[in-house]
Amino acid sequence: MPNYSYRSFITLLSLLSTLGRQQHQRQYAAVAFGLGQHAIRRHARTAAVTAAATNRRHAMTSFHRGISSSAIRSTAEASDVAVTSSSSSDDADTSSTATTTTNLKMEDIVSLCKRRGIIFPSSEIYNGFAGFFDYGPLGSELKKNVKDAFWKNFVQCREDIVGIDSSIVHNPTTWQSSGHLDGFSDPMVDCKETKLRYRADQLYCAPIIVEEEDSNEEVVVGYVCVMEGNDADMISSATNQAKKLLKEQDKKSSKLKPFVFTDLTQVSEDVMTQVPSPGSGKPTLTMPRDFNLMFQTNVGAMQDASSVAYLRPETAQGIFINFKNVLGTSRLKLPFGIAQIGKAFRNEITPRNFIFRSREFEQMEIEYFIPPGDDVWQPYHNKWISDSKEFLLSVGLKEELMGYDVHEGDGLAHYARACTDITFRFPFGVQELMGIAARGDFDLRSHTEGSGKALDYFDEETKEKFIPHVIEPSLGVDRLILALICSAYAEDEVNGEKRNYLSFHPSIAPVKVAVLPLVKNKEPLVKVARELFEKLQRRWNVSWDMTGAIGRRYRRADEVGVPFCVTVDFETIEEDGAVTIRDRDSTEQVRIPMDEVIPYLSKMIDGH
Ligand code: GAP
Repeated sequence: MPNYSYRSFITLLSLLSTLGRQQHQRQYAAVAFGLGQHAIRRHARTAAVTAAATNRRHAMTSFHRGISSSAIRSTAEASDVAVTSSSSSDDADTSSTATTTTNLKMEDIVSLCKRRGIIFPSSEIYNGFAGFFDYGPLGSELKKNVKDAFWKNFVQCREDIVGIDSSIVHNPTTWQSSGHLDGFSDPMVDCKETKLRYRADQLYCAPIIVEEEDSNEEVVVGYVCVMEGNDADMISSATNQAKKLLKEQDKKSSKLKPFVFTDLTQVSEDVMTQVPSPGSGKPTLTMPRDFNLMFQTNVGAMQDASSVAYLRPETAQGIFINFKNVLGTSRLKLPFGIAQIGKAFRNEITPRNFIFRSREFEQMEIEYFIPPGDDVWQPYHNKWISDSKEFLLSVGLKEELMGYDVHEGDGLAHYARACTDITFRFPFGVQELMGIAARGDFDLRSHTEGSGKALDYFDEETKEKFIPHVIEPSLGVDRLILALICSAYAEDEVNGEKRNYLSFHPSIAPVKVAVLPLVKNKEPLVKVARELFEKLQRRWNVSWDMTGAIGRRYRRADEVGVPFCVTVDFETIEEDGAVTIRDRDSTEQVRIPMDEVIPYLSKMIDGH
């Protein structure tokens, strides 16, 4: 192993950073760990500027998909999600008094989703299938509610936006024009020994630098290689690797210097020959190469090049290629939008973090067309950022876990005017939840050139013809669901007993109401409860539970996030004809006449 001096290594790094592909290196101090050291991570983001005009994927690397400086900087404090819930009532049979902060881990979320029938691993009886998931009885309701809320908010309640539902497989020329065929790729490295593949921008290496005992000289004695994660995990893993190597080299007492992490898209061939593969522990990694993420299929009976087609990797292109159809069949005038919700497929190299990055997922996208002009797009872009945030809050996202990441400079594609991500603090760190991009006229222009059909707009007032510009809010259904579950996860104490519940916003809660007859062996009481249940069922997804003590049944409903429990008791049938409605979060109860139950619940669930 050659001994480089620390200074010359840093010089090499900075040379690398200015040569070759344009890159934007960010540096920040991370948490102290282990041997009293602190680490510096150099995160290189592939610049979209260097991508060809049609290279939408590269644009996405910095547009929507890359981890932002703000995101990375926050990972140090975001390794665990702090979820706070408070409750103050003292209801008749339960009193919730505690305010608890819970450190939420991804394992907790995954196991909760499985236990409660929200999300299962796909094809589990065949040992699963990486990057694919199945939504269970509660999950499918939750997902439907989230999509309905989006549609209601952005399509139904607006006169300037209409929806479409395009095919998943388009004419393959679509992907040539959009740039996906040439550029929708991630950098990948292979381990030659284990045959495992990794995303090069998600693997970080760092030189192991030690101070020589006798000379005080700093020397590089090897390299560590760690997966991207929160700072504490990366430093811990690097420290363990370094300690092992120092032991092997009989340098156990040498003083380790802080790690300087660089992602594998930025290292030279020489360095790569020294970086240990996470799989083999030996330097068996290839240099990075681009891997196209589109799933390929064949259409028709022939299985040759002429029949190749692709599963769409985003819903947006289905909107652009229908621009003229929608314009010609509606009375829309600029500015107007077209929305689409649907499946998208990406052959992600390393699907990770449950449904955060999967290979089959759903997107909710809007292309909002606006007049061209340098001074036109900004107010629209700003408005879309605030409208998007408002929507996310309205379905129950916790504001304190949200943030923004504004892409600037070489983080933007050359055709893009701006891009802002709305971020969320997931248990594994702050990451992009949604992107809002001002994309100029790039997409309609590319399809105009690719198809030979003019995708333009005629302004009746000015008598001008032009290609509209576009603002693109793009949100993943599954990623939003993960953020909503993280936001809803809560623990407190009720009557001195620990309670664990999901505080879903009533509008997206999979089950809105649980109807509970107080006892199951009094026929008139059960009959009244059943009639109420069937009435409520016509409006909402409602559950029926008559097994066990009432407190137990409340707890069961809390666990799956049912916002309201309606209890029919002896007084209902013998005295006042009223029922008790219990609020999940506060555990407070109100007594309401039977005929006011639906108006009351409508207000609480639907807001009117
Ligand atoms: N049309 C723009 C576009 O597709 P993107 O950043 O690649 O941009 C938009 O994706 C959103 O789709 C992301 O913000 C994320 O919510 C979701 N998304 C993207 N890739 C995903 C994946 N592999 N798994 C789950 N959600 C994903």
